[in-house]
Formats: sequence, C-alpha cells, structure tokens
Amino acid sequence: MYIIKNIKEEVKKRLKYDKTGHDFQHTMRVYKNALEIYEIEKTGDKFIIECSALLHDIADHKFGYNDNDRRKIILEILNNYSIEKEKIEKIIDIVNTISFSKGKIVKSIEGKIVQDADRLDALGAIGIARAFIYGGSIKSDLNEVIKHFYDKLFLLKDRMNTKTAKEIAKTREKFMYEFIKRLDREIKINL
Ligand code: ADP
Ligand code: NI
Repeated sequence: MYIIKNIKEEVKKRLKYDKTGHDFQHTMRVYKNALEIYEIEKTGDKFIIECSALLHDIADHKFGYNDNDRRKIILEILNNYSIEKEKIEKIIDIVNTISFSKGKIVKSIEGKIVQDADRLDALGAIGIARAFIYGGSIKSDLNEVIKHFYDKLFLLKDRMNTKTAKEIAKTREKFMYEFIKRLDREIKINL
C-alpha cells in the first residue's frame, strides 16, 4: 500500500543517523515482528499495527521529546493522507504509551502487538548484539552489560502480551541464556 511505503521513507529519513539502537533497521525489524504476530493471532487492525510499528521510535523520550512533540510529528506525517482521525488518534496513543513503556499498560490489541514486537527485538541473537552496541555507546564494561541481561532482558519473556510473542521469546531467550552461560565459562579465571 502506498501510504505504508511513504511512511517507511519518512521514518527512514528521520532515523537514519541514530546510533542508540533506535535506528531504522530496528524499526523495520519491529514492523516485521508485528506483522508476523498479526498474521498468526489474526486480531487487531492491520493498518494501525503497521503505522504504529513504523512510528514507534520516531521521537523517543530518551532524546527529550514529550508526548506533545510526538503527537505533532506523527500528525505532520499522517495528515498527508486521508486517514480517519480516529485511527490517527489511536496510533498516537499507542506510540505515546509504548515510548514510556516502563510501567504503562498498553490498552489496545494493536498496541499490545507492537509492544511485543519491540520487546522481541531485545531478545535472541539480535538482542545480544543490541545490548553490546548500546553498552559500548554508554561505555559500559562487560559485567555491566551482563547485568543488563538479568535486570531487563531475562524478564521480557514473561511480560509478553500475546501468545505468539511469548513462543518466539522462549526460543530467543533460550539462545541468549546459552550465550551468557558460555560467556561466563569463557571469562572465568581460576588462577
Ligand atoms: P526500547 O526498545 O523500549 O526503547 P531501550 O531503549 O531500553 O528499549 O533499549 C534499546 C536497546 O538497548 C535494547 O536492545 C536494550 O537491551 C539495550 N539496552 C538498553 N539499556 C541498556 C543497558 N544499560 N546496557 C546494555 N544494553 C541496553
Ligand atoms: Ni523500539
């Protein structure tokens, strides 16, 4: 659909230079995960899921944007098309809730799917890679990155909203756990 294609281009322009793990490739993986969950669960409005996934990191609170800034940017993008106002409001609500995901409950099924899709990208091989990229960017040492696995990543599986995401999370977590176990073995020094 041409609206989705254009939104992708717009988001690509805006996230091109991000080095914090919220880059365009992350957005596209979240988009792919969200569609995968939608295809299996067969629930929610596909267009709202697609738009919310594509826009979910457009103006993250980490970079000082607030709910209102995010609303403005999303309106700027979506008002170029004839999309029902009600749908746009739903997308804004989802992106705003997910941006402050720490603690906020996402109400709509579309929001739940996008939140799961975002969390899946913090798990598995890609989750490991992102943790080390992010850790490096804030000058963490190895132990601090390992701590992040226990503080956050190993908790995500049980916080998934949908059954489909929980299943994918199980496989990804297993791999991540094996990795941490092996890493522990390799870095242990008994001299
Ligand atoms: P969200 O996708 O909800 O915006 P974050 O911005 O918290 O999540 O994290 C983005 C990525 O960076 C994730 O893959 C996460 O595991 C990683 N990350 C976040 N904080 C840390 C940290 N302190 N150390 C290592 N990796 C981190
Ligand atoms: Ni994200």
